[in-house]
Formats: sequence, C-alpha cells, structure tokens
Amino acid sequence: MKKKTAMILGVTGQDGSHLSDLLLKKGYLVYGVKRRSSSFNTQRIDHIYNSKYFNTKFFPFYADLTDSSSLLKIIQSTKPHEIYNLSAQSHVHTSFETPEYTANTDAIGSLRVLEAIKILKLIDKTKYYQASTSEIFGNTQIPQRETTPFRPTSPYAISKLYAYWTTINYRESYGMFAVNGILFNHEGPRRGETFVTRKITRAVAKINKEKRGIIYLGNLNAKRDWGYAVDYVESMWKMMQQKKPDDFVISTGESHTVREFVEEAFKNIGIKILWKGKGLNEIGINKDNGKVHVKIDPGYFRPTDISELRGDYSKAKKILGWKPKVKFKDLVKLMVQSDIKKNK
Ligand code: NAP
Ligand code: GDD
Repeated sequence: MKKKTAMILGVTGQDGSHLSDLLLKKGYLVYGVKRRSSSFNTQRIDHIYNSKYFNTKFFPFYADLTDSSSLLKIIQSTKPHEIYNLSAQSHVHTSFETPEYTANTDAIGSLRVLEAIKILKLIDKTKYYQASTSEIFGNTQIPQRETTPFRPTSPYAISKLYAYWTTINYRESYGMFAVNGILFNHEGPRRGETFVTRKITRAVAKINKEKRGIIYLGNLNAKRDWGYAVDYVESMWKMMQQKKPDDFVISTGESHTVREFVEEAFKNIGIKILWKGKGLNEIGINKDNGKVHVKIDPGYFRPTDISELRGDYSKAKKILGWKPKVKFKDLVKLMVQSDIKKNK
C-alpha cells in the first residue's frame, strides 16, 4: 500500500507541531504548511527541521489561508490523503481588534481549502479536518456537547462557526469526508506566550528565578476546561480514521478558574497565593512574605467573555475510544517545570 500523506496547515503553531510529531511517528509523509514571516517562525518544529525526517518524510511548503492560489497550488502538487486545517488567527482577544482579518483567515480561509479540494476533484481522495473550537458555544448550557446550541460571543468564534457549518455543508452537499473537532482549550509547553496559561507559567518561572515579579491579568473568574495538547492532537487523527465523517467534542470534563490556575502554578514553586481587595484593585500576594505577585490590568478584559467552558467528551470516548490522559494539576506542573527549565 502507498504511504499515507497528510498536509498540516498551520504547522508552525502549537497543535501543528504536535500533530507533525504524531503523524511522523505513525509513518506518514507530512507536508507542513507555513506562511511567510519576516522573522523565523519555526521554533516549534525546529526539532523536525534538524532531524532525519526533514525533506525525507517532512516537506515544508508556503501558503497563506488568505490566498486561494497558494492553497490550490500546494494541494494540486501534493494531493494528500488527509488535510488538517489548523491555521487560524487563534487569539480571541485579538479578534476584537482585527475582526476582518480574523474572518478572512478563520472563516473564508477554511472555505478556500474546502473549495480547493472540490475544484481539484479530490473529494474522493482527500479527507478534511477543521479545527473547530468550544468558543462557538459562547455562554449557553454547561456542560457543552455536540448537541448544545451555539451562541458565539467574539469575532473569532463567529468566524469559526462559519467554518464549522461550511465543513458540514461540504460533507452533506458533495459527500466529502470532512469533520469538525470541537476542541476545548488545550495547552502545554509549546503554547503561545499570550494565552493565559502560558503567560502565567512563564511569569511563575521568572519569579522563581528572580524571587520577585508581578503578573498583570484580566478576568480571574473565567472558567476553562484545560487539557493537554499532545492528548488532543491524537483525537484529530482518530476522527480522520473513522468510516463515517462526524463531529466530536474533545475536552477533559473539568473546569477551573484562571484564579485556580494562578494558585496551582505558584504552588509548584512553593508559594501560596492569598487574594486581597476586589475588582480592579484585587491583588495576589505571597502568604509568607506579603510580596505582590498578581495585579489586574483592565486592558486584558474583553468586550465579552465566556464565563465557563466545560465539555462532555462522552461521544468521543464511545466512538473514537479517546479520553484525556493529562488532567489539570499535572498539566500546570508540566508547564511550570518546562518554563523553569527554559529559564535556566
Ligand atoms: P496557534 O498556535 O495560534 O497556531 C496557528 C497556526 O496558524 C500558526 O501556524 C500560524 O502561523 C498559522 N496561521 C495564522 N494565520 C495564518 C494565515 N493567514 N495563513 C496561514 N497560516 C496562518 O494555534 P493552536 O493553539 O495550535 O491551534 C490550532 C488550531 O486549533 C487553530 O485553528 C485554533 O483556532 C484551533 N483551536 C485551538 C484551541 C487551543 O486551545 N489551542 C482550541 C480549539 C481550537 P504563525 O506561526 O506564522 O503565526
Ligand atoms: N490571554 C489572556 N491574557 N487571557 C486572560 C488574561 C490575560 O492576561 N487574564 C484573564 N484571561 C482570561 C480570558 O479573559 C479568558 O476568559 C481566559 O483567560 C482564557 O483566555 P485565553 O488563554 O486567551 O484562551 P481563550 O479561552 O480565549 O481561547 C483559547 O481557547 C479556545 C478554545 O476554547 C484559544 O486557544 C482559542 O484559539 C481556542 O479556540
């Protein structure tokens, strides 16, 4: 049998790098697609660039989700068995500042990829994975599952909901194998530095080294269902190996506040955080010596935010045989430890 081939759009991102590791381990030929950048943007896949896989099993390509011709060109030249569309302007807060660009990349970008598969007559050959998100639920029922109504509350979520329905539409209209992975927040040492978990673990590692420092945060009361990115990319692959295309919620089933994440991260360096004050004046201090380590910066609040995301992954457990291996405390620990190591 010919080797399986997979194209990963967004290969330089957190998930793209972990998925590349997984697929290479499974023996795939991987076409890793990145966009042009004025500085190096391959840190998360440098270990692959420097390995025996580079240009033997892992082949880099350039394309941009805002540029149909670049997508058509690379899909035509590679005709992969599987396309994982992980490319996105993925920062929710940023999407309020750049709603048009976010829609162009996250909504129309997905349409461009699906349309390229159709135009190139690859519907019977190429399967499509859409990186959907728990953000599409907004503030609705808890826990959220595949049947929960959607009420997106950010330009990012609205764009991703367009991509979600477009994926289903190509499946129903043209019989394409196209699936939505509705993934809840997933983190790890490769997480972008401006997402709240990594922002906290990096700051905690710095405070551990310098014995002082303050983290400025926004909404401490938001609850998120945080899982481990390595576990989650495996679910993407599993969805693509099913007989029938379908959509799945991937989560841990537990939610925690940003405040709890802060407390747990500091616990890993032996500091107990006490909270004092209210609202914008709330601070987090070291219980033992009174040093201030957390303050509120109103600039980090969003025009609208989701109060709680907590997913019910029972469909994925039943059909894909998937369940999360790493839960909250271990996730925080592995991220803090990794940032401490990087800081040395
Ligand atoms: P990420 O680290 O932000 O990676 C996004 C990737 O998309 C990067 O490779 C980025 O390139 C690329 N990209 C951005 N704009 C592009 C464009 N116009 N053309 C081509 N590539 C572009 O995100 P992630 O955490 O790995 O998430 C992967 C996907 O899952 C995203 O679609 C995200 O929205 C979705 N998702 C993530 C989570 C989560 O908790 N991580 C949960 C649910 C859904 P650069 O490296 O050059 O910026
Ligand atoms: N980024 C950030 N920075 N968030 C903060 C901060 C801060 O200083 N302070 C509080 N928060 C709160 C946010 O308001 C939000 O409620 C929560 O922390 C999580 O924020 P992020 O880590 O930025 O992630 P997100 O939940 O908005 O989005 C991530 O998860 C989605 C899945 O639910 C991203 O990875 C999205 O791409 C993904 O779709």
